[in-house]
Amino acid sequence: MPTINPVKGTHDVIADEADAYAFIESLFFSIAESYGYRHIVTPVIEHTEVFDRAAGEGSDVVRKEMYTFLDKGDRSITLRPEGTAGVMRSIVTNKLYATPDLPLKYYYCGTAYRYERPQLGRYREFRQLGVECVGENSVYLDAETIAFAYHFLEALGFESIKLKINTLGDKASREAYKTALRAYFADKIDGMCADCHERLRLNPLRILDCKVPEDHELAKMAPKIQDYLSPESKARYEKTVELLRRLDIAFEEDPSLVRGLDYYGEVVFEVHCISPEGKDYGAICGGGHYEGILSSFGGPSEIDVGVGFGMGVERIYSLMKEFGLTERLVSQTDVILMPLGDGAVDTAYFLADAIRGLGYSVEATYRSGKLGSFFKRAERKKAKLALIFGEDEIAKNTVQVKDLQAQQQEEVALAALTEYLRTKLGAAE
Ligand code: HAM
Repeated sequence: MPTINPVKGTHDVIADEADAYAFIESLFFSIAESYGYRHIVTPVIEHTEVFDRAAGEGSDVVRKEMYTFLDKGDRSITLRPEGTAGVMRSIVTNKLYATPDLPLKYYYCGTAYRYERPQLGRYREFRQLGVECVGENSVYLDAETIAFAYHFLEALGFESIKLKINTLGDKASREAYKTALRAYFADKIDGMCADCHERLRLNPLRILDCKVPEDHELAKMAPKIQDYLSPESKARYEKTVELLRRLDIAFEEDPSLVRGLDYYGEVVFEVHCISPEGKDYGAICGGGHYEGILSSFGGPSEIDVGVGFGMGVERIYSLMKEFGLTERLVSQTDVILMPLGDGAVDTAYFLADAIRGLGYSVEATYRSGKLGSFFKRAERKKAKLALIFGEDEIAKNTVQVKDLQAQQQEEVALAALTEYLRTKLGAAE
């Protein structure tokens, strides 16, 4: 029988990698709670228009990368390509905005789907974690959200991260800028890629994101948003920059940063991971301030602002590995049981249950074995203590306990084992 491989761009997440994901996600959850966020879980499948309306039909994600299909009832359904749109749809559906306690602050983590060319850290099914802070228009919330993303990555151990920020200004600034971009590209578009033709028509900002080298060169010389900002947007951006400086957050201003989704306005940001040699591994995090999504779903326009970010868990993990940050996450075993002789297996069964009951992790095999292979297994499992017992120990109600790091062994009475383990291993967490 031929083997069946996973679908292109998907992968199984196993053991160390899965443990690391759990660590990344639980750290994110606890930091999110410290910032006053609550958890939200929205469906993976949504009506396609949720993403058309929110992310914008001009974005590459919506135009080219969505997994969209007709269900058996002929409804157009899409697997979410990102987290923001579903959260915003949920806020409107559930009238979550009807509260005096704005802003609404939600964090989430779940799978997302994009039909992209798979490469390192880029998948067709990936896990995205993120936050949305909705309903209050505040430069402080913008800066706080950027600081949150930055501090989270620092807490994961990243040292060489680069925060890039830019502003896309308010609506009037963006319209003026789009007009300038259309004029700039008008006599250049004939030599540009087919996507850019479409981008020029739908949203010329997207051209600045084009990865085709020749188009990218032309985009570099294009007018800059900074020259089209309204005085209000300029002042707001300057204030954001000042607030980040006050928290000692290092950043680089990048006037070409436009982000790939259409809902952004005012500040946008990305966090990139940089090797000591200066290699840029691309964005681990992207986000910014947005407007207009709630009303596109029929929600109230008075509070239709938000700020948030998203990060790919696979991407975080692959970069943690690259920079040696996952080593400390490898799970350890507190105690490994080594029953010698068939009569000891029964004792192993009860000891495993009793020691796990104390809160320690136990590696137990219900097979009598040879000491040599037990010790090899102990090494692979990074066990701290080995409990060795055969007929003699069972008769005396004792076990031999070997400290695998100090390589010291002593006989301990079963009645004293709890105290002994607590002294050796510390109180269980
Ligand atoms: P995004 O920049 O499209 O923004 O995605 C955010 C992050 O998701 C990226 O920086 C990357 O880490 C991860 N990501 C995206 N595509 C893939 C992929 N194919 N494989 C692995 N990871 C991927 C958003 O999605 C916005 N919703 C972020 C946001 C939230 N803005 C405001 N609120």
